[in-house]
Amino acid sequence: MRSMTPSESSGTKKRIFSGMQPTGEAHLGNYLGALRRWVKMQDDYDCIWCIVDQHAITGGGDPAELPGHVVDLAVSYLAVGLDPERSIIFVQSDVHEHTELAWLFNAVTPVGDLERMTQFKDKSQRVESIPAGLLNYPVLQAADILLYKADGVPVGEDQKQHLELTRDIARKFNATYGETFPETEPLIERGVGRIVGLDGDAKMSKSLGNTVPILAEPGEVWDRVRTAVTDPQRIRRSDPGRPEVCNVFTLHGFFTDEETRADLADGCRSATIGCIDCKRVLSDNIVDAFGPFRERAEHYRAHPDEVRQILDDGAERARIIAKQTMEEVRERMGIAWRNAVGT
Ligand code: TRP
Repeated sequence: MRSMTPSESSGTKKRIFSGMQPTGEAHLGNYLGALRRWVKMQDDYDCIWCIVDQHAITGGGDPAELPGHVVDLAVSYLAVGLDPERSIIFVQSDVHEHTELAWLFNAVTPVGDLERMTQFKDKSQRVESIPAGLLNYPVLQAADILLYKADGVPVGEDQKQHLELTRDIARKFNATYGETFPETEPLIERGVGRIVGLDGDAKMSKSLGNTVPILAEPGEVWDRVRTAVTDPQRIRRSDPGRPEVCNVFTLHGFFTDEETRADLADGCRSATIGCIDCKRVLSDNIVDAFGPFRERAEHYRAHPDEVRQILDDGAERARIIAKQTMEEVRERMGIAWRNAVGT
């Protein structure tokens, strides 16, 4: 195992934890909404980045595809710059303590709270029979976070409710069994909000096909960006456009310098620049910004043994923290019968 980084041993930095479900390669929405920020946070926090494959089973995906999705997400994490030298990067199912703690948390989690979760309400409506795992999903999420006693969790607005529940679980646990867990803060990035998909309508997601894979080849980036919905009132090229309501223009905000953006906005309003030209600039800038990611991904794809080693190492480091927490939890909850018979 590699040695601990200074921040791990000194414990002066705040610890943060976050995770993503493995649905394959990360896409533009994952990048803008999460990964971009995670990479920067590595400078200021002790970071633990997880691939939550045990959450993924509640979505009913194909088991044959899941292992490949885990590896693809790991490659994406590494490609954007999550750094195994500074952060712990690992797969949830490699650390069995997550599911154990989730089970124990069921003892302090009111079913009513779980039924109130908007994500549960949405997802349960779309299935004929509701698996208990869909209801208990946020209990496993609370276990992910509290197993490492994380101080903060960078998440999107949509996860706020799950984070509130995590705090409730920590509070209830502490009140029942003694002070054990922190009340973890949700770290929600201000001013970013929902990343709207290329359809100009729904949140970006791979399943809706309204996004761009971050490791896409230039040609594919263009194929996707070209289809993006713009200002619906600009039907002909000669119609003046409204950049402030155009999602393509919003995306320029992430990839294009201010001066060019001002030119594009003027050109759009005066109908001197067409949507296709504006999209071309966006596509080129995305291709440039993601170029280094594609290169790094190529390296890891050619060296799967390195990816494996990084994830093995990450799991080992995660397990050390997880084991400590579980000893404490078992002890407090009376799941330690040996204490009654002596040694
Ligand atoms: N529920 C989160 C999502 O869908 C994924 C997740 C699972 C997570 N466990 C977590 C996020 C712990 C942050 C912390 O995005």
